Amino acid sequence: DKGNHRHFMLKEIYEQPDAISHTASHYLDLANGKVKLPSKLPFDFKSLNRLTISACGTAYYAGLVAKYWFEKYARLPVEVDVASEFRYREPPMDAGGLALFISQSGETADTLAALRYCKENGQHIASIVNAQESTIARESDIVFPILCGPEISVASTKATTAQLSVLASLAIAAGRQRGHISEAQEFELVDMLAKLPGAITKALGSEEKIDQISHKLSKAKDVLYLGRGSLFPIAMEGALKLKEITYIHAEGYASGELKHGPIALIDETLPVVVVAPSDDLFDKTISNMHEVAARGGKIILITDEAGAKSVGDDVDEIIIVPDAHEFVMPIICAIPVQLLAYYTAVFMGTDVDQPRNLAKSVTVE
Ligand code: F6R
Repeated sequence: DKGNHRHFMLKEIYEQPDAISHTASHYLDLANGKVKLPSKLPFDFKSLNRLTISACGTAYYAGLVAKYWFEKYARLPVEVDVASEFRYREPPMDAGGLALFISQSGETADTLAALRYCKENGQHIASIVNAQESTIARESDIVFPILCGPEISVASTKATTAQLSVLASLAIAAGRQRGHISEAQEFELVDMLAKLPGAITKALGSEEKIDQISHKLSKAKDVLYLGRGSLFPIAMEGALKLKEITYIHAEGYASGELKHGPIALIDETLPVVVVAPSDDLFDKTISNMHEVAARGGKIILITDEAGAKSVGDDVDEIIIVPDAHEFVMPIICAIPVQLLAYYTAVFMGTDVDQPRNLAKSVTVE
């Protein structure tokens, strides 16, 4: 049932504040400012040398965001790969490592095959899944449920942000066990996760502005998405969402890679969506945007208030997200990129919930 919404995708986008607070209630002890995992871990983060993450599509991008978190906050080296590459690479693995699989459906064939490869190679198997009765859940040593409720729209939205909040909780738990996060820091990070539903509600407030911008975006043949650090995967996620439901070609690139090739594409017909809250690297992003503007490129900037104030007039459109710590920014910035894809698709009249050629659950290899 779509309720009052025109599409399941929009309904699910709007369910995100509730979905995330529901997920958080299973992973966070809010009264004490601590992470509380739903079940006891069959492994110890402290004795791990490496975490291996495999997934497909949007779930892979969630894994890429998690890499930034685990490496920064838990000092745990992370390898992330698309399952369809990982499974055929015959990657060497030290016995006793941890392999983590992320899947909304829990039935994605390549992800399952990657899981079985890791099992044969002596890894502890953990998964983050929404469908708890699924094959991936069944074959895992430990399951971290996403708990966002059924996702009907083919393009994933609430499962993505809920996956990210599970991953953020796990990264905090790993940081604590490995001695890189103090009790006070855990308290602060948990508080940031606890405030996410409110921040997401605010981010949803730019809907009208995004609807206007989408009219311009619908005229484009190609769109470039740029991001740095943990927002680079969100740039790729934005490009994927746009491709899936509008059929406009889009690419996500690391901002710093612009001058190593894609800058050749830039002219007045190429919208460039820059996902860049005002963090430590914002000056670098400003200079990247300047390079785009100098070549006539049209910039749509997703940033916070402080970022908006300092960009000058290189920028065509600004979408404001609420101020937040960089830790939770990838989750907040996922919202405008979802809305941008959604409104562009609605304006173009595509079948938003059932885009051509795509299936919700990809059980073929
Ligand atoms: C994107 C999308 C797909 C899925 C991918 C993995 O919006 O929905 O890219 O993320 O097919 O699916 P699961 O998570 O079910 O393994």
